[in-house]
Amino acid sequence: MKKTFMLIILAAAFAAGAAAQGVSLENGWVFSTGDSSQWASPNYNDKNWKPIDVHHPWEQQGYPKYDGFGWYRLHVFIPSSLKDKAYLKDSVRLNLGIIDDNDEVYLNGKLVAEYGGQANGKITVSNYGPRSYTLAANNPAILWDKENVLAIRIFDTGGDGGIYGGTHNVVMSSLLDNVTINNDESFDFGDNGSMSKSITLLTNSKYSYAGQLKFEAKEPETGNVAISKTVQVAFSAGKPYIYSFTIDRPLKRSYQLTYSFTEDRSHDVAVKFEGSPYVLTPWPSSKPRINGPSVFGARPDNPFLYMIPATGKKPLYYSVSGLPQGLKVDENTGIITGIVSQKGDYPVVFSVHNHLGTKTKKFTIKIGDVIGLTPALGWNSWNAFGLTVNDDKVRVAAKTMVTKLAAHGWTYINIDDGWETAQRLPGGEITPNQKFPDMKGMADYVHSLGLKIGIYSSPGPRTCGGYLGTWQHEDQDAKTYGDWGIDYLKYDWCSYSEVTDKDPTLEDYKKPYQVMRASLDKIPRDILFSFCQYGMGDVWKWGAEVGGNSWRSTGDIEDTWQSMSTIGFNQIADGPYAQPGHFNDPDMLVVGKVGWGSNQRNSRLTPDEQYTHISLWSLLSAPLLIGCDMGKLDEFTSSLLTNDEVLAIDQDALGKEAHQAIKKENYQVWIKDLEDGSKAVGIFNTSETYQTITLKPNDDGLSGYTKIRDVWQQKYLISSGNNFTVKVPPHGVVLVRVER
Ligand code: GAL
Repeated sequence: MKKTFMLIILAAAFAAGAAAQGVSLENGWVFSTGDSSQWASPNYNDKNWKPIDVHHPWEQQGYPKYDGFGWYRLHVFIPSSLKDKAYLKDSVRLNLGIIDDNDEVYLNGKLVAEYGGQANGKITVSNYGPRSYTLAANNPAILWDKENVLAIRIFDTGGDGGIYGGTHNVVMSSLLDNVTINNDESFDFGDNGSMSKSITLLTNSKYSYAGQLKFEAKEPETGNVAISKTVQVAFSAGKPYIYSFTIDRPLKRSYQLTYSFTEDRSHDVAVKFEGSPYVLTPWPSSKPRINGPSVFGARPDNPFLYMIPATGKKPLYYSVSGLPQGLKVDENTGIITGIVSQKGDYPVVFSVHNHLGTKTKKFTIKIGDVIGLTPALGWNSWNAFGLTVNDDKVRVAAKTMVTKLAAHGWTYINIDDGWETAQRLPGGEITPNQKFPDMKGMADYVHSLGLKIGIYSSPGPRTCGGYLGTWQHEDQDAKTYGDWGIDYLKYDWCSYSEVTDKDPTLEDYKKPYQVMRASLDKIPRDILFSFCQYGMGDVWKWGAEVGGNSWRSTGDIEDTWQSMSTIGFNQIADGPYAQPGHFNDPDMLVVGKVGWGSNQRNSRLTPDEQYTHISLWSLLSAPLLIGCDMGKLDEFTSSLLTNDEVLAIDQDALGKEAHQAIKKENYQVWIKDLEDGSKAVGIFNTSETYQTITLKPNDDGLSGYTKIRDVWQQKYLISSGNNFTVKVPPHGVVLVRVER
């Protein structure tokens, strides 16, 4: 899979007329691993090649762990009637779905398109993503009314490879190809139970557009149209059309919104869908409440930093009884600092008060060898900004975290790839690039807010983004991180493949992490160590022993149901290995505005899918690393990230991971044991329609649990008899806590 990946934003889904359906390229492909220039030729005999499906990576189709070159070939008839039916007749689009990583496309032996690149067998740019190529209709490579041979040469750097996902067809270019329906503005919630938003129709093409924009809101369960409006619109390059609307905000459910634009001349239609957001998290009370976990671990003699997370009307005043010698608390901020030399478990009591009252909470400070006793809660720059991260964006994230999220336990501000230079100083030291003029200053700023700061590197010579890795400078880099005041290191395998065995053994997988562990251990700081090597060598079996506080158990996540649900619902083999200080990491969150680069858009997960995402990750005791542009944190996303009862499931001190208790065609139930003897239960609808799901406690390992609390809504539910029945929206969840 991608090492450096540029996520290409999928254009609006186009449901166009007959012409746009085109010639299907979904079936009939054959495949071979390896590489030969003859395979581009239409005359090459591919009769003995194996069939392959273009909806799954080649690894899943008989080529496990295969990286390198692979060729796909297809014989396809392209009728000229395609042109006859189309409004525009001058160009053809070849939609090839998602290709991982790079490709060259040959039509009847001629190279007609390519993406990414590789030189001397080595990848130079790796670009995983959807491919859509435009060819002139009179390109002699296209044989109209004849059989054509399409041959695609793919190079995969590692992980999943091949063609999978997306739509595969040949269509005529449409007038709408360069039209975007931009719905990335967030909803504004009005006080009166309404919500408003604007969408924009825009183009960068030479055409002027006129037509009808239809806006529709459907009830999710019945499909009944609740609101429908049509307006006549016109737009052209530099003159977008903005459509604003205000609708009611239904309780506990989404409207399914459709924006469709029908172009007057071609009658082609561009469509975009989204679910309207709905908030379940209650507004926090003005009375003080202490949030976060019940335990925090630190090493003896290292600087200690913990900010008591508390909500309630400000000003809030903090005190702690029983603090071990060496620590003090700031009564105005709740930040505890100092150094403790004596190992041991220190039971303390936090106390927070304001003019409405006082709240106390028992808490244990554990000074010992294990840190990261509960999964890290924080932000990471990657899913929002990719390699475009800079000092400014990180400071905005820190500021937003402290004003909006830290009261709920959010702590880490992690800089991912893109902060490094390409060359070390003459003495071998690593320095940040010009986007981070003062890393020490940045760390001091983050600490001054009571937060912690993380950084990223690779054990290889280069990071996945092509910047300097730590290879052969482990001690030196660990010291630099310590000098800056770094609290978290994400360590990403990337180019380490180039310096280890081609077929790594288990020892080879462990080695770079052991080496860096030893270097970090020389630094007088508590630095959480997060392994990132996508689960290779069943990392969950040895991650703790090698000193990882968390380890990625999967490849990279994307903001699609396919990606998030496949990752989340497959955290099964690794589950039993989660324990305090050592957690599986199914990758970062894809809620809010994401983009992996300089442009951000709303997560493509529906609101219900986002509830599933946060619920499932909490049940999995996953590190929760927000991957959005924090400067644009909207009300819905904030509500997802500030539900203290949901976060308490993630942060439970028992440190266990939920197990998949039930898996049916349309739903799954995951159950997690909690410290106080209660259990968290996620009832997930994995289907595309509403499901009524009944849990039978006696059959489902929940006998004796009679009290049921809806965690998102923070209220007890009445169960009828012994069974517990819930209605769950498509791809949604009901998350409960059951108590005896
Ligand atoms: C990937 C990693 C991502 C991100 C990226 C940076 O390998 O899985 O989470 O860190 O590298 O280049």
